Amino acid sequence: MTEPGFETRVVHAGYEPDPATGAVVPSIALATTFAQRAPAEPYGEFEYGRSGNPTRAALERAVAALEGAAHGFAFASGLAAEDAVLRQVPLGGLIVLGNDAYGGTYRLISSVYDTAGWSWSGADLTDLDAVVRDWPEATRLVWIETPTNPTLNVVDIEAVAALAHERGARVVVDNTFATPYLQQPLALGADVVVHSSTKYLGGHSDVVGGFAATNDEELAGRLGFIQNAAGAVPSPFDCYLVLRGLRTLAVRMDRHCANARLVSGALVGHPAVDRVLWPGLTDHPQHDVAKRQMRDYGGMVSLTLAGGEAAAVALAGGTRLFTLAESLGAVESLIEHPGRMTHASAAGSPLAVDPALVRLSVGIETAADLVADLLEALDRL
Ligand SMILES: Cc1ncc(COP(=O)(O)O)c(C=O)c1O
Repeated sequence: MTEPGFETRVVHAGYEPDPATGAVVPSIALATTFAQRAPAEPYGEFEYGRSGNPTRAALERAVAALEGAAHGFAFASGLAAEDAVLRQVPLGGLIVLGNDAYGGTYRLISSVYDTAGWSWSGADLTDLDAVVRDWPEATRLVWIETPTNPTLNVVDIEAVAALAHERGARVVVDNTFATPYLQQPLALGADVVVHSSTKYLGGHSDVVGGFAATNDEELAGRLGFIQNAAGAVPSPFDCYLVLRGLRTLAVRMDRHCANARLVSGALVGHPAVDRVLWPGLTDHPQHDVAKRQMRDYGGMVSLTLAGGEAAAVALAGGTRLFTLAESLGAVESLIEHPGRMTHASAAGSPLAVDPALVRLSVGIETAADLVADLLEALDRL
C-alpha cells in the first residue's frame, strides 16, 4: 500500500484500537500513578502522571507523526511549549524574533527571557537580504511565525533555515496558523515546530494546549526533560479534547480556507477597507512563497480600515456572526482588534501593530452569511 494521505493519517495517527477492549478511541486515563512490579520496575511505559500518561502519549504520537517528527511533546499551553523550547538557548545566546509575531511570544522573549540574561532582536524575516546583512553574531535561535499573527506575512522557511544553519543557529517555526495540514516546517528545514493547540489543532475553543515536535534527538531529550522537570503538562482530559479535535483537522481546514478565500475576496474594494491581508490574494507580498510552501492559504484574514483606529474598533464591535473575542482557529468565526487585545503587550515595541488593523478568524459557517455580516458592519461605519 502506498503511504496513506494526510486525511487518512490525521484520522488514525497515534492510536490503534485497544487490544483488550477494542475501544476505537483512547480512554481518558485519569490515573496519576501506575503500579510497579518491583521498585523502579513499572509494568509498562508509565510511572507517574506528570512524566507520562496514556492519553497524552496518544496525542503526542499523533501530532508528531503529522508534523513528520520522531518526537512530540504536549504542554499545558502554547506559551508553555514555547518556554520549553526557549530554555534550550544557551544563557546569553541571542534570539531573533520575526518582527511580526504573537504578542505573547514577544512578551515571553522580551519580558521574561530578556530580563533573565538572554538577549533578543527583531528582524523582518520576509526580507532575506536584510536578514543576511543584519545577522547578529550571537544568534542561537531564529523564531519564525508563518503566516504571522496578525499581519499574515509569510516567511520562506527553507531559505531562513538554510541561512540560520550556515551561521550555527537553530530554527523554530510556530505552525499554529498553518497547521501540519497546510505546511510542513520540519521537511522545509526547521529544527522544531511549536503550536498553540488551543487553536486549529483543538479547533473548538474548548481547550488550552501547546505542542513541540522535532527530529533532533538531543533537542528531544532536553524538551522531554523540561516537560517533566518543569511540569507544564496538559491534563488527560485536555489531551483527549485536542486529539478529538485533531481528527477533523483536514476537513475543517479545507472549509476555513475556502471561507477565507470568499471573505477576503468580498472585502477587497470595499470603500471602508484600506488593505486586505490574506496570503492567497495574488497581490499579497509573499503570495509566491505561500504558494510554494503551503497547501492552501489558511483561515485567518486581516484588514486595515480606511477610517483608522476608530473604524477598526467600530468594526470589531459591529458584527453579529463574528464574535468579538481573542483566540482563533475554531469552528466559529471571531473578530478582534489586535492593537487593543491580543497584541496590546507589543505596544511601543518594534512589534507594535497598526491601530487600524482588524483580525478575522474565519470559521466554518456558511460563507455567504459571514460575508453578509462583514459587509453590513462595514456599511454601517
Ligand atoms: C501564533 C500563536 N502562537 C502561540 C500562541 C500562544 O498559545 P497559548 O495561548 O495556547 O498559550 C498563540 C495564542 O494566541 C498564537 O496565536
